[in-house]
Amino acid sequence: VLPSEGKVSWKAPSNIALIKYWGKKENQIPANPSISITLDACATTTSVSYSRKEEASQFSFDLFFEGKVKEDFKPKINTFFGRIEAYLPFLKQYHFKIETSNSFPHSSGIASSASGMAALALCLMEIERRILPNMDTMFFKRKASFLARLGSGSACRSIEGDLIQWGRHERLTDSSDLYGVTYPFKVNKIFSNFHDAIMLVHKGQKQVSSTVGHDLMHGHPYATTRFAQAHSNLDALEQILAKGDMEGFIQLVESEALTLHAMMMTSNPYFILMKPDTMEIINKIWAYREATKTPICFTLDAGANVHVLYPESVKEKAIQFIQDELVVHCENGHYICDRAGSGAKKL
Ligand code: PMV
Repeated sequence: VLPSEGKVSWKAPSNIALIKYWGKKENQIPANPSISITLDACATTTSVSYSRKEEASQFSFDLFFEGKVKEDFKPKINTFFGRIEAYLPFLKQYHFKIETSNSFPHSSGIASSASGMAALALCLMEIERRILPNMDTMFFKRKASFLARLGSGSACRSIEGDLIQWGRHERLTDSSDLYGVTYPFKVNKIFSNFHDAIMLVHKGQKQVSSTVGHDLMHGHPYATTRFAQAHSNLDALEQILAKGDMEGFIQLVESEALTLHAMMMTSNPYFILMKPDTMEIINKIWAYREATKTPICFTLDAGANVHVLYPESVKEKAIQFIQDELVVHCENGHYICDRAGSGAKKL
């Protein structure tokens, strides 16, 4: 029986990839497997109120972002609804009021698509769970991840924590191109509670949307090699995480970040998404690591911001270094201290 009305709320975190997803096939199928750390502080909170309609002819919803009507997000949500309708037959039966807000500042250059799509997918699954109350928890999470993927690929890694793999890989029989799974292999405790301080180098709009970026991997001269490399990096990471090989971790994670940017620099058309301050931060991290032997490294997403990664054991030193040397390279001195988190929460 379809309930006549109600309201559901979920908070979903962002995530940062260690092994990057860049390039996709039809239906948001990734060209290579990826692995990410689920974050904690950077998150989207979404509430969905639903009320039964007389006529189920088309999607209908109102959208509020941080309390204000947000017309320009509507086409994205419409496309998303179109993609997931086959899996959520109740979608056209309701009028929805979607209210969403981010924990991180608006236009900080942090992509909210992962946390945003994950939170919305979880709300819709919560409505489905009210229609089908005996739903298994594993099914709930996997389907939420499956739906989130159809909104934004990397969003499927924002349902659970704290290390998530998405994409089929030989070594992990439970892995799938359709949803994220929690990383099942042994992880040495030096990698638990990892920190990610996000240096907000450039808060403006991204120069290339990730949709355009993924597309540029079609016919890219290095695509085949890159996809194969992601597979071998996933193999290598298994040993690195199990053994607690910090040096191997740093080398692999930084190489993945630079490879992502190398793909953008060598596509047609080509892009440089790093800014001079991105380079300054990278060079300072290298110099500091060399001089002090502190295990601190960086990764990048498809933009100029730098994610500074370090283990719990060096957090005081790392924060001091960030404040003394890196903050000057952030726009208005802004950065966000985040860390590995345990996944989305029902509110
Ligand atoms: O989820 P999308 O389509 O916005 O792609 C995100 C891709 C990267 O953030 C650059 C890498 C990743 O794996 O998250």
